[in-house]
Amino acid sequence: MVSRVIPVQKFDLVLFGATGDLARRKILPSLFHRFQAGQFSDESRIIGTSRSKLDGDAFRTMVSEALCEFGGAKSAEEKDLAAFLELVDYVPVDARGDGGWGQLKAQMRPDATRAFYLSVGPSLFGEIAGRLKESGIATEDSRIVVEKPFGHDLASAKALNEDLRASFEEHQIYRIDHYLGKETVQNLMALRFANSLFEPLWNSTHIDHVQITVAESISVEGRGEYYDHSGAMRDMVQNHLMQLLCLTAMEPPSKFSSNAVRDEKVKVIESLEPVPNSDIVRGQYGPGLDHAGYLEHANNPNSRTESFVAMKVQVSNWRWAGTPFYLRTGKCLRERVSEIAVYFRDPPHNIFPNIDPARGNVLVIRLQPDEGITLHTTIKDPGPGGMRLTGAKLDMTFADTLSEQEQPQDAYERLIMDVIRGDQTLFMRGDEVEAAWAWADPIIAGWDDRRHAPHPYDPGSSGPEEALLLPHRDHRHWRRLGG
Ligand code: BG6
Repeated sequence: MVSRVIPVQKFDLVLFGATGDLARRKILPSLFHRFQAGQFSDESRIIGTSRSKLDGDAFRTMVSEALCEFGGAKSAEEKDLAAFLELVDYVPVDARGDGGWGQLKAQMRPDATRAFYLSVGPSLFGEIAGRLKESGIATEDSRIVVEKPFGHDLASAKALNEDLRASFEEHQIYRIDHYLGKETVQNLMALRFANSLFEPLWNSTHIDHVQITVAESISVEGRGEYYDHSGAMRDMVQNHLMQLLCLTAMEPPSKFSSNAVRDEKVKVIESLEPVPNSDIVRGQYGPGLDHAGYLEHANNPNSRTESFVAMKVQVSNWRWAGTPFYLRTGKCLRERVSEIAVYFRDPPHNIFPNIDPARGNVLVIRLQPDEGITLHTTIKDPGPGGMRLTGAKLDMTFADTLSEQEQPQDAYERLIMDVIRGDQTLFMRGDEVEAAWAWADPIIAGWDDRRHAPHPYDPGSSGPEEALLLPHRDHRHWRRLGG
């Protein structure tokens, strides 16, 4: 396979919050990698801004250090690094005041696509958007990119949407959910809509249930303060797991265009049944032998915030009635694994009743680690000794089939290039985010009302015991983490 890198047009990308953690860890390294891959030319510019009174050289030194630390820029790549730094400049801008906007405007070129990446807290979105518009820095063709968390609930998400839309049109707003930039997430759409094999089976007649797991082994250490106000439901379910659910459950869009795809996702969210408390298990990791517990990490001895949540979700439409979706996510779990497992129904009649129970197939779409797709099948146990059955996997691990240059890019690399290309397909639309909050809000309110304490679980485990019961009640079981 030949890797095809399609160059993007010349751009001026202004990065607000350029000295922050996300910029250093993700955004700048992603830009560097795309530059190295030849996806943008040295006619493009990256202009960092923040309140810090740095000059261009000091900022370039910071960028270079960040690329060495997080971007894998080694001395062997010094030539690339030097060429990349040529594109980088810095303007100190006071997002809440007047300072720096004139200087920033002077940097903008009339013939370059303008993108404004707001790697800053949501409280600054509206203010920065407004100043970009008023000062004439943003044109009708400019793009504005915002990070999660996009709101804390429906009301705050609506307010953010209003703030942004006061200065930018919806077609200019790129709300990032980095899960949408993951290779396998897009492969899910290819699998479903570029093959004729699966779609006829993709419904409750043939699919028994779906499990969506995003398990993390890391704790919340270092970001306990943010996390304690958020919890797994707001931090992961309302956005990342919701996106995975949407792409699994949505109807085929009429075309692969941003609004056609997002229209179908919104319909899925609007079809979600309210989830009763009996179908949800919340957990909080306790201390381990050599591991502080959540309460210590959150620096809040009375916290009732969940670091784990599992739930049974029903998509109430013609395609999915009777096929539950089990969702789970948590921190400090045994393994880092994100996957969608589609459990097909057992064969309707078992012609091998004395040999083995009939088993349904399972299609596992693995996001990480080892991105790939595996179909679990049943075959004859090879060799002599009569008829016996055994499990076998049809396995497509991308690392095995792709060359080194074709290994999946980081999600941010793809998403930033999509911003420049003007493709919103992998970004959340305003109504989509609001619909997801409208579903999540009553669930969270139910917990708040009752002051329910989450169930404790051991770090390095699969989550609280109670979570096992969720599928058990329905005579189903979770896939083993990493299994
Ligand atoms: C972020 C969450 O959006 O996603 C984090 O805020 C989480 O809590 C992270 O760790 C997971 O992303 P990934 O790509 O490592 O699975």
